[in-house]
Amino acid sequence: MTAAPLKHLLHDDDLAAALRADVRSGLSDDPKWLSPKWFYDARGSELFEQITELPEYYPTRAEREVLTAHAGDIASVTRAKTVVELGSGASVKTRLVLSALDDAGCLEAFVPLDVSAAALAESAHAIAADYPRVRVQGIVGDFTRHLSSIPGGGERLVLFLGGTVGNLLPDERSQLLGGLRAVLEPGEWLLLGTDLVKDPARLVPAYDDAAGVTADFNRNVLRVVNRELGGDFDVEAFEHVALWNAEREWIEMRLRASRDMTVQIPALDLTARFAAGEDLLTEVSSKFRRDGVARELAASGFALRHWWTDGQSRFGVSLAQAQ
Ligand code: AVJ
Repeated sequence: MTAAPLKHLLHDDDLAAALRADVRSGLSDDPKWLSPKWFYDARGSELFEQITELPEYYPTRAEREVLTAHAGDIASVTRAKTVVELGSGASVKTRLVLSALDDAGCLEAFVPLDVSAAALAESAHAIAADYPRVRVQGIVGDFTRHLSSIPGGGERLVLFLGGTVGNLLPDERSQLLGGLRAVLEPGEWLLLGTDLVKDPARLVPAYDDAAGVTADFNRNVLRVVNRELGGDFDVEAFEHVALWNAEREWIEMRLRASRDMTVQIPALDLTARFAAGEDLLTEVSSKFRRDGVARELAASGFALRHWWTDGQSRFGVSLAQAQ
């Protein structure tokens, strides 16, 4: 089947307004921050793809290992007719789940939801071409705002893979899980990928690779601000920093000013001053433990039915059911 036209719940204007609002608050705050959601323009998405192939960056491979081993279980337990994916979704990992449900004769529809219309159009067409029996309806939207527009019908499985849930702060996470629970009917399913707490000697290099791809990815957010808002960040004057916050159990990516700098953002009529050594927080990537995941799911009205990890216990995949 061909993919249905994308459903647009978010327009370029909304995205531009959200970027302006975010950059204004983040650069006016102390300490300064920018949201990781702005990494992913075409270049940032390409850099992220490169990251997933780095020797140091294990999460993608570890999650793929889990899904390869358990896609059949996921299909036989859920027997889902509709798969909804938060974040683009034409990846190998998505296809493992779709193929298992298709082989089991269950799958009728695939609904990828993403902020990027371009990424979505590509993934919707690729999946439609490869799964001719499946209806594909891409939704351009923000999963923190547009969950209520996910088509209903029961017998749905929502995929939230890759550990992307770790980019949210704890209260944002419970908002998202609660919102998701609210749109699902009792008995429907959530498949959640979470990177696990481990030795910082493994974690930190995954976010600070020898080839410098992650550093380039991190700095890309400054290029996005420059291009979209007319900013004059001297991108190369910011040093990539990845550190393990042991108390919060998350990785922080920061950009550290190598000298005093004054940055103009004309579209916001904003001047941001950086002192030499000052950090701009660009991402947190939370790491999880089974008990914490089960607790957070339960607090949002989901029961953890299955918990799988890769052979080295690096990455956890939860199959949870709306109560
Ligand atoms: C796409 C959010 C899962 O946090 O590991 C990769 C993004 N940042 N390297 C992650 C990322 C730096 C990634 N997620």
